[in-house]
Amino acid sequence: MDMYSIVGGTPLRGTVKISGSKNACLPLMCAALLGEGPTVLENVPDLRDIRSMMLLLEHLNVRAILKNGRMIIDPVSFDTDWVPYDMMRRMRASMYAFGPMITMRRRAAVSKPGGCNIGNRPIDLHLRGFRSLGVQMVERQGYVHARHEGLKGAEVNLLGSNGPSVGATCNVLMAAALAKGRSVIQHAAREPEVQELANLLVAMGARIDGIGSSTLAIDGVERLNGVKWRVQPDRIEAATFAVASVITDGDVLLTNVDPTTMTATLWALREWGAEIDHQGEDALRVRRGKDCPMRPLEIETGPYPGIATDTQPLISALLAVTPGVSKVRDTIYRDRFMHALELNRMGAKTTQEDDSLSINGVSSLEGAAVMASDLRAGAALTLAALAAEGSSQVRRIYHVDRGYERFDQKLAALGARIVRTAEEFQDPGAEIDWSSVEQAEQVSEVETRA
Ligand code: UD1
Repeated sequence: MDMYSIVGGTPLRGTVKISGSKNACLPLMCAALLGEGPTVLENVPDLRDIRSMMLLLEHLNVRAILKNGRMIIDPVSFDTDWVPYDMMRRMRASMYAFGPMITMRRRAAVSKPGGCNIGNRPIDLHLRGFRSLGVQMVERQGYVHARHEGLKGAEVNLLGSNGPSVGATCNVLMAAALAKGRSVIQHAAREPEVQELANLLVAMGARIDGIGSSTLAIDGVERLNGVKWRVQPDRIEAATFAVASVITDGDVLLTNVDPTTMTATLWALREWGAEIDHQGEDALRVRRGKDCPMRPLEIETGPYPGIATDTQPLISALLAVTPGVSKVRDTIYRDRFMHALELNRMGAKTTQEDDSLSINGVSSLEGAAVMASDLRAGAALTLAALAAEGSSQVRRIYHVDRGYERFDQKLAALGARIVRTAEEFQDPGAEIDWSSVEQAEQVSEVETRA
């Protein structure tokens, strides 16, 4: 297993090109299965989840080739109708194959994905949606077995106890595009990635009204075609580099971004004290505001256009080094605070109170060996390590590899002191300065006596 070895304290400077969006690309790859000809996707990031989806397509007997950011998917020999546990457990987004399988093959069996490190992640809304379209289902030995005699358009209500679902909206949208008659999805998710899928389907020949709203009306068509499509920039990667700039007191120009997809995050960063200048339509210059103090924040995540839950760990890392008391509430994943325990090991002062994190900002963090529990936690710890004093190791970075393209190389190009190495590197905590322990003891004795 690899880890990042980081020496903190260098302000990041320069230009970074943001990659195509992983979360937009994954459902688009599955939507390509609905077309009668090949689909070509451009601006595709080369990272582990995309490679896992390519393996899944291969399992379905569909060829996908990725070269220089261009992916060609030819569904002509698509002939498999089940997804095994091993693929499902590797990546929850494998669930996106369910919609096209049930639509094109009239039957599908997928292993249920289960929970993960960011909390409970059920699939009840996906199943509710498919049932509304006339799919019969049974759950057996950890699998969902589904079949139908022709999808029929219907009213589909996708409101869950935690709000709308991105995955369920995408899945039902793909099936409804080829169902007989009109479907209306109520409480649809409105995330830019959902909008992009809907726009791709329209380009393939689907008839969808209400794109960008929470009610989608779909008039089923007989067939869809393959198309050529450019994937939107990754708004979460853009947020990561924006935080990387301000947390290190740097000055970074992000290119290939779509600022319209991240207005809530940009608002939060400006409230914090960041200066963010638009440079044309697709570039942002991000740095700390001149003579502007860093301010603690009280924020909560929410469905789009709210602050994305995936940016919450990154913003939490920034608030950990922002003097004052901040509060961060995650309404999507109420327990998504594993990164906070690791930040505390670097000297942060955070405590979880129900679905919120209370952060008592410190003036600086200290380098330490920490462990990524999931993708965005890994990114947040890397940012914290870049801002910390001394050296850190961020372990289990295979989580980071899932969703970032050449993360360490992009950071290093901005001046970060970050190296990827095998995990048996020396623990920075092993360099013990016994005299500092003695001094600290003496100070605390004096304080106790006083
Ligand atoms: C997608 C993103 C993920 C992001 C999340 C929320 C991808 C590949 N992943 O995940 O990065 O964090 O959106 O923006 O795009 N829920 C149910 N029942 C369901 C489905 C979801 O209760 O059937 C709940 C979930 O537990 C969660 C909330 O609804 O609390 C939102 O989940 P959802 O939008 O479905 O997330 P994903 O599509 O899995």
